[in-house]
Amino acid sequence: MAVSTDLFDLTGKVALITGGATGIGLAIAEAMVRHGAKVVVGSRTLANVEKAVTQLNTLSDPKDDDHLVAAGVALDVTNPQSVEHAVRKAMDVFGGLRILVNSAGIMLKKPAFDLTPEEFNNLHDIHVTGSLRAAQAAGRIFREQHEGCIINLASINSFNDIVGVPAYAIAKTAVMGLTRSLANEWARFGIRTNAIAPGVIPTDLNRKLIEGTDRGRRLIERTPMARFGGADEIAGAAIYLAARAGSFTNGHTIVVDGGFCTSGITEAVAPWAEQPSA
Ligand SMILES: NC(=O)c1ccc[n+]([C@@H]2O[C@H](COP(=O)([O-])OP(=O)(O)OC[C@H]3O[C@@H](n4cnc5c(N)ncnc54)[C@H](OP(=O)(O)O)[C@@H]3O)[C@@H](O)[C@H]2O)c1
Repeated sequence: MAVSTDLFDLTGKVALITGGATGIGLAIAEAMVRHGAKVVVGSRTLANVEKAVTQLNTLSDPKDDDHLVAAGVALDVTNPQSVEHAVRKAMDVFGGLRILVNSAGIMLKKPAFDLTPEEFNNLHDIHVTGSLRAAQAAGRIFREQHEGCIINLASINSFNDIVGVPAYAIAKTAVMGLTRSLANEWARFGIRTNAIAPGVIPTDLNRKLIEGTDRGRRLIERTPMARFGGADEIAGAAIYLAARAGSFTNGHTIVVDGGFCTSGITEAVAPWAEQPSA
């Protein structure tokens, strides 16, 4: 088989995407399929998984013998058996696994004084332990084949505290640490581990908190590009990391945030904010 000269080609690769039925995970799944990969998307809500799989399979040519490009799996990243099952499913359906994207996540807006240990631990279990669990399960296969790429979802909360969501901010900071540790420990097994830190992207995770709200206005006003991002604007970084373009990138968190993390005071004005008087 001729080697592709396209630095962003993913033909022949299979990706498992946790939380891949909605939002950023789904946008990454779609971009990976468009770049030639096959994907398995998993989350707890089967109706969303089925909908995503149908949507993703419309991207391929039905006349092509190999036209099934997506499969779904019921997945709860807090459950080790469920994670093992998802990895096995990717292997069984598409005959291999090369990429893991850890996009499963939840949000919790609650001040630190009011957080219960159960709430804190549950959020940590999904974002941090869940990412580690999936990395271990996929990593065993990656180690055997001496090839694999892990992409975690960090956040601008990994770098800056955004008031009101301490459990989330702590978990996302840990995801960055997890990324560095796996990158350092597993590179010798042919496994690269990186993360993407998206800025504010309206999805099911946060829509109610940010759309048309004072919090949303303040977030936009901290963003030099003066807008939220789209989930599709995060996917390009995932393609870069998974493809040959990113073959020497390891241990990094790529920030895709419209300039949020590098800004202090900006000229940005949210569309629904009062315009400053002339
Ligand atoms: N949107 C943003 O502004 C933003 C910014 C920075 C980072 N991120 C991160 O990006 C990732 C994707 O979030 P999103 O914005 O795309 O939100 P989303 O659309 O709500 O996606 C999160 C997905 O995770 C799944 N999930 C939650 N708990 C799970 C579990 N225990 N096991 C398996 N799947 C689970 C959800 O499905 P079920 O509930 O059906 O399981 C959902 O499909 C998250 O890690 C998030 O923290 C988002």
